[in-house]
This record gives sequence, structure tokens and C-alpha cells, in this order.
Amino acid sequence: MSVVSLLLFFFFLSLIFSIAKASVPRSATFKYVIAGEFSPYVVEENATFALGTDGNLVLAEADGSIVWQSNTAKKGVVGFDLLPNGNMVLYDSKGHFVWQSFNYPTDTLLVGQALRVVGGVNRLVSRKSQKENVSGPYSLALEPKDLSMYYNSPGPPVVYFTSSQWGIQQGSIEYVLLKSDPETYEITLEYHVANSSSAPRRLLLGKPKHNSTSSMLRLEIDGNLKIYTYNDKVDGMMGMHGK
Ligand SMILES: *[C@@H]1O[C@H](CO)[C@@H](O)[C@H](O)[C@H]1NC(C)=O
Ligand SMILES: *[C@@H]1O[C@H](CO)[C@@H](O)[C@H](O)[C@H]1NC(C)=O
Ligand SMILES: *[C@@H]1O[C@H](CO)[C@@H](O)[C@H](O)[C@H]1NC(C)=O
Ligand SMILES: *[C@@H]1O[C@H](CO)[C@@H](O)[C@H](O)[C@H]1NC(C)=O
Repeated sequence: MSVVSLLLFFFFLSLIFSIAKASVPRSATFKYVIAGEFSPYVVEENATFALGTDGNLVLAEADGSIVWQSNTAKKGVVGFDLLPNGNMVLYDSKGHFVWQSFNYPTDTLLVGQALRVVGGVNRLVSRKSQKENVSGPYSLALEPKDLSMYYNSPGPPVVYFTSSQWGIQQGSIEYVLLKSDPETYEITLEYHVANSSSAPRRLLLGKPKHNSTSSMLRLEIDGNLKIYTYNDKVDGMMGMHGK
């Protein structure tokens, strides 16, 4: 075998191998990852992000060393998808989500994502800096009666923001959901009260002039809470809030 055909052979072998490894549909392949988001997991050239035939989603270095994994081996995962709302999911043969990125918010909620008092992540925590994906000092915590913002000083945590608008009188909160109304463009937090038959209470956070379906709520490094909206029909930066 000549060097060229040997190379071609390896090329096809690696193609077959990667197809077997990743059942990522073409429409759902990643173009890039926002710098910072994956920062403790910076990988080198030729690293792979693949769904194994065992159903485990693995980010690995070129030498095979595992940098991050979903820990979903042998849990019935048959496929991977990146949904239009930004939720990255691993689903089983019935279409149920075995794992979803929406269950692991850190400093950001996307539209459709929730904070839960029990049985899930109950707070957003600011990042330490642009470069360090580790917890910073600020948090937005969902408690049974309200949402409060804390500054984690060397002493006990200090509440630096709370509003009567952020609380409820009756019952206790189960979860809050970030929503965007596709008709009115209102961005709201929807409060779901445990064992309540009445409609969820809605706290209005913002009302951009343009479709706000692609929005996110982020607790910034400086402790500020901001909503960002992306709209490709809007020229320049007009569709963006904040920086
Ligand atoms: C970033 O840090 C958070 C909190 O420590 C962690 O849960 C998350 O997995 C990290 N994400 C990545 C992609 O490194
Ligand atoms: C990545 O793969 C390319 C093509 O196979 C190779 O030329 C390059 O040396 C690799 N880089 C690393 C860091 O392994
Ligand atoms: C806003 O965008 C969403 C998602 O693209 C779409 O479903 C909805 O119809 C849009 N709303 C209007 C009023 O065009
Ligand atoms: C809701 O009702 C269930 C069943 O009656 C009960 O177990 C649970 O504790 C209730 N939750 C709250 C927050 O009251």
C-alpha cells in the first residue's frame, strides 16, 4: 500500500469510526462554543465530542482522555439533539429525555428553563471572571416564598436585592420558568406554586419591541441581572440589551 492509499484508508476508517461514534444529526452539529462557557474544559486540537454506542456523551482529548461526560452509559440513550430553544438533550427510544442541559443552569436561564426549589438547581451563580468558569460571589436563589440575590462575602451571605414583586403570599413556590410570549414579546418569570390549581403568577421582566423568543437571563460577573435578546431581523445591536 502506498502512503497515499494508507492515508485514505485511515481517512475512511476514521470516517466510519466517527459515524459509528456520533449519531449527531447534520443540522445539530456545533459551529462553536461561546468562549468561557466551557473554560475549565478547554480542549486541545483534534479533541472529540461524541455520543458513544453505550449512550454516553463524551468530550475527550485527541489521546482519548475524558474531559467531560454525561454519565448516561447504558441508560437507553439512542440519540442526541440540540433543540431550537438551546436545550441539549439525550433521548431514549420513546423520545424521553434521559439527560438535558436545561437541568444544569449555572449563571444563565434560557427561555423554557427553570429554577426549582427541590429536585433541581435552585440558584443561578455568577461566574468568577470571563476566563474562570468557577462560582463567583453573587447568586440568585429561589426560595419557597421568593427570589433573592445574595453576595457571598467572607462572612455570612448578604442579601443585596429582593423585591416584594419577586415573592408570593400563598403556598410555596415549586419552580420558576423563564418565558417569552411569541405574540406580545413579553419576557416573564412564571411562578409555579406547589399543589395550586390557580394559574401561575407571571412577573414581567421586560418587553422588547421585537420577537424575544431567543432570550436569556444571566447573572453577570458583577452581580447584575440582565436579559439578552437576539433577533436577526433587527439591525446592528438594537436587539441586544446590556453590553
Ligand atoms: C462550569 O462550572 C459549573 C459550576 O462549577 C459546572 O457545573 C459546569 O459543568 C462547568 N461547565 C463547563 C462546561 O465547564
Ligand atoms: C490533528 O489532526 C491533524 C490531521 O490528522 C494532524 O495533522 C495534527 O497534527 C493533529 N494535531 C494534534 C495536536 O494532534
Ligand atoms: C416569534 O418567534 C417565534 C420563534 O421563531 C415564532 O414561533 C413566533 O411566531 C414569532 N412571533 C411572531 C409574532 O412573529
Ligand atoms: C403537595 O401535595 C403532596 C401530596 O398531597 C404532598 O406530598 C406535598 O408535600 C405537597 N407539597 C407542598 C409543597 O405542599
